[in-house]
Amino acid sequence: MEHSPCNEVNTTRKAPEGAIGQVLIEALPYICKFEGKTFVIKYGGAAMKDSCLKNIFAQNVTLLRKVGIRIVLVHGGGDAITKTAEKLGIASRFLLGRRVTDEGMISVIQMTLAGKVNQDIVQLISQHGGKGVGVSGLDADTIKAMPHPNAEKLGLVGEVEQINTDYIDLLCGAGLIPVIAPIGFDDEGNIYNINADDAASSIAIALKAEKLIYVSDVEGIHVGERILKTICKAEAASFIEQGVISGGMIPKVLSAFKTLDSGVGKIHLIDGKAIHSLLLEIFTHDGVGTQFISEEEHEQSQTR
Ligand SMILES: Nc1ncnc2c1ncn2[C@@H]1O[C@H](COP(=O)(O)OP(=O)(O)O)[C@@H](O)[C@H]1O
Ligand SMILES: [Mg+2]
Repeated sequence: MEHSPCNEVNTTRKAPEGAIGQVLIEALPYICKFEGKTFVIKYGGAAMKDSCLKNIFAQNVTLLRKVGIRIVLVHGGGDAITKTAEKLGIASRFLLGRRVTDEGMISVIQMTLAGKVNQDIVQLISQHGGKGVGVSGLDADTIKAMPHPNAEKLGLVGEVEQINTDYIDLLCGAGLIPVIAPIGFDDEGNIYNINADDAASSIAIALKAEKLIYVSDVEGIHVGERILKTICKAEAASFIEQGVISGGMIPKVLSAFKTLDSGVGKIHLIDGKAIHSLLLEIFTHDGVGTQFISEEEHEQSQTR
């Protein structure tokens, strides 16, 4: 049997009832604090691949919505895109964590990301009692894009020019969970592949979200064996330069600090492989994973 963290969950051993009650009651101040607030969740990494983790993620998201938090999901789907492209004889290439995209690849992205991957997430949320709605960035002009500064090398990779929040607000206001596939359009009729981290960042900024959470497949940002509890922009820049932060972590980190600079106060990277990491991040004092913090917060934590 393939190893899954879910194999380690013992469903027959029950915690004493008092302890369960205590855990639930500890969540109450957070539930009160976050009711009506908007959280943008970037869904990627292992939690999108393992079937048990996918179910747990969908349960977590449904629970958050049911306690009154406006949840907006933005998903990746790199592996699924690579597999479909392979079947069609199209090779995948990456440059600094971004997918090189030509006309053939953009069609694969449309059918895979905005199709199967998106609808599977919607279905899973529905199975757990939530109401997800698939949204492609093309729907209702949600993601307007322009060519990435590195477009000569990257092809049809876009940068977000503008987010139209009307449709997302409408869905959230109706108690639904928008599940957004990050593709964008321009006025010339081009369709762009947008890195899901960049899209989540722009959407969080446009919605003035309370939190942006990146769910990935690492415990947090690693520096050697160490996992950072917090990271500030200057540290991140030097880790990128030294190659300590590389690949897909580069757009994640850059987008995180752009979001922080634009006024979204709480930004976290959490491990989709850890059971219920999303709930733990939101409903416990210590949180989990790595938090992206400002230089001021970093200085304060050093002098404490
Ligand atoms: N310093 C680092 N700490 C943690 N992960 C890193 C670091 N540098 C590079 N990575 C890589 O970044 C990956 C996460 O980015 P990516 O593969 O794009 O996943 P996602 O689906 O979450 O966007 C990790 O799996 C890891 O291989
Ligand atoms: Mg990525």
